[in-house]
Amino acid sequence: MRWFLLSVVIAAACGKNNEPPPPSSGSPNAKPESGPRHRANAGSNEQARAMFATVCATCHGSDGTGTGPAAENLNPKPRNYTDPAWQASVTDDDLRKTILLGGQGVGKSPMMPGNPQLKDQPEVLDGLVQIVRGFGRK
Ligand code: HEC
Repeated sequence: MRWFLLSVVIAAACGKNNEPPPPSSGSPNAKPESGPRHRANAGSNEQARAMFATVCATCHGSDGTGTGPAAENLNPKPRNYTDPAWQASVTDDDLRKTILLGGQGVGKSPMMPGNPQLKDQPEVLDGLVQIVRGFGRK
């Protein structure tokens, strides 16, 4: 009986010791984000980046200055996203709305196409807004 108890205790102790160590983030400043959410965000940011590079950059330029290859014949031209005065003049909601509805939906140039499908992908929409904002931080 004593041996039985002892082995149970040992087994329990071993079980504890075999638990994987807590994930170390490597940086003391790392945010305590939960895994799945983090992965989802990374995925949609990638989607947003890919979308900007393949769609938006044709007009807005990969550097955000509004000088993409398709911008040459546009009037008005897409604005320069690196302009701090413009960055300060619009809210994230303004940007979201223009990207969703297109220029026509917000009284801007109809050459700015809408992306109504992003209504169901708010993470991608936010990713695009962050990309646009990112040009102003350089
Ligand atoms: C066919 C060219 C074209 C494409 C493609 C395009 N845009 Fe635009 N975009 C424009 C033009 C032109 C304007 C300026 C409209 C105006 O000022 O009247 C504009 C304006 C905007 C604005 C509003 C800026 C402001 O003045 O407040 C945002 C935000 C924007 N685009 C984001 C995007 C994103 C994100 C994409 C890709 C999903 C994209 N655009 C794709 C041409 C384009």
